[in-house]
Amino acid sequence: MVNITPSLHHSTTSAALLLAIETSCDETAIAVLRGRELLASEVASQVAAHQPYGGVVPEVASRHHLQHAPRLLERAVAAAGVSLGEVDAFAATSGPGLASSLMIGASLAKGLALGYAKPYLAINHLEGHLLSPFFEGEGEIVPNVSLIVSGGHTLLVEVKGVGDYRIIGRTLDDAAGEAFDKVGKMLGLAYPGGPEIERCAQDGDPARFDLPRSMLNSGDANFSFSGLKTAVRYLLPKVTREDQRDLCASFQRAVVDVLVAKTIAAAHAARRKLVTVSGGVSCNGELRAQMSLVCEQAGLELRFAAPQLCTDNAAMIAFAAQLRIGRGESTALTTEIDPNLALA
Ligand code: KG4
Ligand code: ZN
Repeated sequence: MVNITPSLHHSTTSAALLLAIETSCDETAIAVLRGRELLASEVASQVAAHQPYGGVVPEVASRHHLQHAPRLLERAVAAAGVSLGEVDAFAATSGPGLASSLMIGASLAKGLALGYAKPYLAINHLEGHLLSPFFEGEGEIVPNVSLIVSGGHTLLVEVKGVGDYRIIGRTLDDAAGEAFDKVGKMLGLAYPGGPEIERCAQDGDPARFDLPRSMLNSGDANFSFSGLKTAVRYLLPKVTREDQRDLCASFQRAVVDVLVAKTIAAAHAARRKLVTVSGGVSCNGELRAQMSLVCEQAGLELRFAAPQLCTDNAAMIAFAAQLRIGRGESTALTTEIDPNLALA
């Protein structure tokens, strides 16, 4: 990130009024944040539009962003009780994500920044997730080992401070959320599969099916979920409708076991006392329960993102932008979106 004019005076940065836009995938989201006070957080979900296809269709997503963004902008400023002219800086997710979706939010934020002669901030979507467990509370970002589990990513990151990240491990194939979504599709459940599988697993027996915990003992912090997905596919012809709850519970337990074990091992290896968890899959109750239990046993502190901040939203982008602006940063309007933007 580079500094450009216009920039904020340092005296105004701690309580800056920020408007952030998130359009990296299939949620159009706009948030308004003053300091750490969230004044508005609007999300227009496109789930219904993508449901017939069983996954996100980029062309459909970008068309929806174009339709929803102007109305959402009006709603967000009205809900926040502010005018666009009062906003101190405009932020948008600039990657990673779908190019045709990212460019809509970024173009809108840049246009607003240009029109109102205010700074623009390009924010990494993963940094939004990564910092979201700290949104609640006034405290500083404490060094931690962070698990980001979403539909597009499964990452273990050592967070030393804002902007100081070290990738410890990642998935070598499917993301955890992607595995939930693909297994959900195989079972004929609605998209996205994560919440559907969790619901179906509620009264199921997690020990009924012996499913693989891939790379559990690989000695590194990487993940693999495609073998688990294939194991479920092979079981399908033998599974009756009544068995589905047990299969969902067994699948969910297999994913959670690996996520928890690898996160704890990474925290020990990095000698960090705090574990944070964010991203859509961190809504999962089984993951929350198991991670809490094992962290307690291991003497580790644990912070989850609040449930409304787990799936894609613009509040987390605004929060990351607030922390960046507090460091005197802003982004040149010539900076382009990057579908493969790296976190570190
Ligand atoms: O963070 P997110 O909204 O989007 C990405 O950045 O990818 O995450 C969406 C993912 C989907 O794969 C969805 O199935 C999963 O999060 N998810 C869940 C749950 N809620 C959402 N997975 C498991 N259990 C849940 N309760
Ligand atoms: Zn996300």
